[in-house]
Amino acid sequence: MKLCMIGTGYVGLVSGVCFSDLGNHVICVDKDLTKIKKLQHGKIPIYEPGLDELVKKNIENKKLSFSNDLKNSIKKSDIIFICVGTPTKKGGGSADLSQIYGVAKELSKSINKYKIIVTKSTVPVTTGDEIEKIILKFNSKNKFSVVSNPEFLREGEAIRDFIYPDRIVVGSNDKKSNKILKSLYSPLITKGAKYINTSRRAAELIKYASNAFLATKITFINELANLCEKTKINIDDISIGIGLDQRIGSRFLRAGPAYGGSCFPKDTKAITSTADKFSTNLSIIKSVIKSNENRSKLLLNRIYEILNNKVKNKKISFLGVTFKANTDDMRDSSSLTMIPALSKKGAIISYYDPTGNKVELNKIKNVSYSNSVTKCLDKADLLIIHTEWNDFKSLDFSKLIKNKKITIFDMRNLYSPQKFINKNIKYFSIGRG
Ligand SMILES: NC(=O)c1ccc[n+]([C@@H]2O[C@H](COP(=O)([O-])OP(=O)(O)OC[C@H]3O[C@@H](n4cnc5c(N)ncnc54)[C@H](O)[C@@H]3O)[C@@H](O)[C@H]2O)c1
Repeated sequence: MKLCMIGTGYVGLVSGVCFSDLGNHVICVDKDLTKIKKLQHGKIPIYEPGLDELVKKNIENKKLSFSNDLKNSIKKSDIIFICVGTPTKKGGGSADLSQIYGVAKELSKSINKYKIIVTKSTVPVTTGDEIEKIILKFNSKNKFSVVSNPEFLREGEAIRDFIYPDRIVVGSNDKKSNKILKSLYSPLITKGAKYINTSRRAAELIKYASNAFLATKITFINELANLCEKTKINIDDISIGIGLDQRIGSRFLRAGPAYGGSCFPKDTKAITSTADKFSTNLSIIKSVIKSNENRSKLLLNRIYEILNNKVKNKKISFLGVTFKANTDDMRDSSSLTMIPALSKKGAIISYYDPTGNKVELNKIKNVSYSNSVTKCLDKADLLIIHTEWNDFKSLDFSKLIKNKKITIFDMRNLYSPQKFINKNIKYFSIGRG
């Protein structure tokens, strides 16, 4: 099939590349010309394991191409996937849909034959109805279908998640578009993926409900970790003990910093805002948002306590600054709350991240990037393990910290406290009283 992905970010690029690998002809479009030029030369603008090989292979096979010519790319394609960003509106909690509606307007003028317009971006309930209205201004109803096909891939595992999804959700209000999409996804259905066809509005809500539920799970275990600290219980025992109950499940039950990333923070806010619009109070999700916002403050207070409230001129090293491992995505990472607050109090911060220097931290006073764990730890008073990269799971501390007095705050519980008992290292972690 001939596909066009509009928006070549984490979602558009990964799904476009994977669709091309399944044998379709895919044009990935972006308005960011620098990004498109890089991709045309086989250079990947994001960190995603395995993606570069797939891009190269499918460019060579002439299944995949990159363009900034939206009109022509739409004309050449049968199915158009909208994969642009839906960030939080400035000064509010609702989703900013300007990129989505901008694309819908451009699309409406380039429909030369029947097209399926698929929203892969995460959009609030009724957005599909609005897109349809915009396109109907210039086109008759039989010229197009608007479908919702939310994406559930996780950064860092994106290719695997795309090829072996738990489920594929397609929300369509007509049979024709559902039949075509089911056939597009048939190679994945054959491999065992469950295909669910719902109404368009239901598909839109499924995506938000999934993210809100996962954010709730993380926040639930983070709050329980606070209780464990006060009652001398190990939170890891609680996670195992409840996670083995199949009704609960063990994933997303690891205590740690506040959840971040490009999805959970904005999507929890957007779903409560949608509910408010329809005069429904999603009070559980509202308290999850509040608890998560407090989490970074709570962990900051923990850092101050560890340093006996003497933060000025203390050398603090962060290992990992992204919101999770295997991604370079800094959006809403809890490090972006903690590092500026520590810098304001006079700390001198160095950080190491396997995905390199971060522009988001460039302008913060006394914050510098080190290009190795060893350099990052040089002269540190406090080491904070912020992100759970495999690279940080088996560090040789006796070598790294030789003859130095250092305190470790392991925000991901990567190590057992026992490991440090007879060493010159003070070790703190999460929810282990
Ligand atoms: N990142 C994830 O892990 C993830 C997972 C599932 C769903 N989503 C959802 O998918 C959507 C996209 O997320 P993302 O992380 O890929 O965003 P992103 O910011 O990485 O990419 C969006 C891209 O769209 C481009 N764009 C914007 N307007 C355009 C236009 N008019 N024409 C062409 N290109 C345009 C931007 O230049 C950018 O490259 C969001 O709604 C997000 O919530 C993201």
